[in-house]
Amino acid sequence: MKRRVLFVCLGNICRSPLAEGLARSKAETEGLTELFFDSAATGGWHNGHPPDGRAVVAGRGHGVDISDQRARVLRESDFEQFDMIVAVDRAVREAIEQRRPTGNSTPVALLGSFGQDDNPDIPDPYYTGRFEAVIARIQDSLPGLFAELQATDPQ
Ligand code: 4NP
Repeated sequence: MKRRVLFVCLGNICRSPLAEGLARSKAETEGLTELFFDSAATGGWHNGHPPDGRAVVAGRGHGVDISDQRARVLRESDFEQFDMIVAVDRAVREAIEQRRPTGNSTPVALLGSFGQDDNPDIPDPYYTGRFEAVIARIQDSLPGLFAELQATDPQ
């Protein structure tokens, strides 16, 4: 059964596009055709923009091309259309929860909580330029996320 996962960050130009690209690549490598990934922002400053050039370069260094992605804002219908929403940090998770439609129960998870790092937040690289650290945290977290998706697959 198709599983739809939406990664969400603040601007949808750094962390969540990299998470989307790396997750899609991992699913392709592992032949997991039932997994579908998308990403979105809680803020609209970069709506319609391609990912940050530093994120594109960092992704390419890890064999992933995210240049075709375009930023968009989280919408109410995402809560119905995705099986799981994955936030990059606790502030983003809080912003997602504030938009949850009444009666909706879609799981909203923290990406970092699936990995080994004690800090559940994946730090914002927009001002620090620390994109390699973001990729390392995403790669650390994806095996646990994939395991969770498989464990909760309704078949
Ligand atoms: P992201 O990074 O949430 O990982 O896409 C940011 C991008 C833009 C801004 C902040 C964080 N901004 O303030 O414009």
